[in-house]
Amino acid sequence: MPKISIDPKLAKKIIQIKEKFDFESGHLHPSSENDEGILSKCDNYQAPRQAKDLGIYPYFREIEEITNSAHVVIDGRDVVTLSSNNYLGIAKDPRVIAAGIKALEKFGIGCTGSRFLNGTLSLHRTLEQNISNFLGREDTIVMSTGFQANQGTISCLLGRQDVAFSDRENHASIYEGCAIAQGKTLRYRHNDMDHLEHLLKKNSQVKGKIIITDSVFSMSGDIANLPEIVKLAKNHGASLLVDEAHGLGVLGDNGRGACEYFDVEKDVDIYMGTFSKSLGSIGGFISSKKNIAEYIRHKASAFIFTAALPPASVAGVIEGLNIIIGESKRRKRLCENTAFIKRSLFEMGIQVNNNQVPIVPIQIGDEAVTLYMNRLLFDDGLFAGVAVSPVVPPLKAMIRTSYTCGHTKEDLKSIATSFNKNLKKLGVLS
Ligand SMILES: Cc1ncc(COP(=O)(O)O)c(C=O)c1O
Repeated sequence: MPKISIDPKLAKKIIQIKEKFDFESGHLHPSSENDEGILSKCDNYQAPRQAKDLGIYPYFREIEEITNSAHVVIDGRDVVTLSSNNYLGIAKDPRVIAAGIKALEKFGIGCTGSRFLNGTLSLHRTLEQNISNFLGREDTIVMSTGFQANQGTISCLLGRQDVAFSDRENHASIYEGCAIAQGKTLRYRHNDMDHLEHLLKKNSQVKGKIIITDSVFSMSGDIANLPEIVKLAKNHGASLLVDEAHGLGVLGDNGRGACEYFDVEKDVDIYMGTFSKSLGSIGGFISSKKNIAEYIRHKASAFIFTAALPPASVAGVIEGLNIIIGESKRRKRLCENTAFIKRSLFEMGIQVNNNQVPIVPIQIGDEAVTLYMNRLLFDDGLFAGVAVSPVVPPLKAMIRTSYTCGHTKEDLKSIATSFNKNLKKLGVLS
């Protein structure tokens, strides 16, 4: 075993963090325990304050300016962002901004109503038709967020007698959709096809079955084994919903996601996507056969009982989709950047996924070390996201990094250098 030495001053700081930060009860994400009255949990929840006092609080950092998809200004300082999902740099593209301004002037800042009653603009229908054409699907419903697209779709489809089979690493919006649905949900181990098959076999008598999976998992950057999932769905008479939040624009020769990458588009019943990642905006959608979309359009509470996506966002996404369709060079550059950073990190001894996904988690494990590492990165001019329990299992804390086509080689080299230096400092790397 190589001998790892840590600077004594740093070791002292980490020990201080471990002693002062109440990891047992103080997880940065509150527990739902309620033994002294409904609001007592708020009084007892000290973790954010403790973390702020220790200088390791990583959340709600105020971005003062967005320079481009790779640089932002925080505390008056230019920093490289490692936490943007603006993979293709579309959010600040001048054409997208011009389209947004035009819609803003024509329609105002909001729709002041639900799509269902009074909030559907011609812009919404144009975007729906454009998405349907792009994905080769019969119909599309544009919703106000990706979260609502999952929650609304799943909760209205999963009836009392039905069963959903959901990957354990699926996004929270899928969990929430399943939780409020009338039907049952069974969670299979992450990307474990044997477990999925076992659960499907055990429920062979159930008529209404649906498999639900992210195509690209937002924390690990894993890609779902869609070819196998499709096979299992066919063999067991299950429908299939695929969440392409992180696949859209990124994977596939034309950017239609992991479904295109694996050539299984025709086998997926419901394609769910968001506008908040590669399209650089906000909103979500589902695309499917006409009769499925028509049902969801009239039944999904999260779609019906909420205000419509604002005009400027819709117009911006229409333009953004044109850019995805017309400029494959952005995807190519993203792919090169992803390969470059993964190779750099791998050569340092960091485990990385050997795929094209621009989400690269840096597993550290210990929460105190992870929070402190994030602080050291920030001191070096890098803005990254942290995932601690219960977002990830205890002792599986990580820095979640993501990359865009806008990162330069210099940006990527400075990221690799900072990780190398600080992970060694903290004794995570030998
Ligand atoms: C896999 C996945 N699905 C759904 C969502 C929700 O999308 P939105 O943020 O657009 O509401 C996200 C966002 O983090 C995601 O990562």
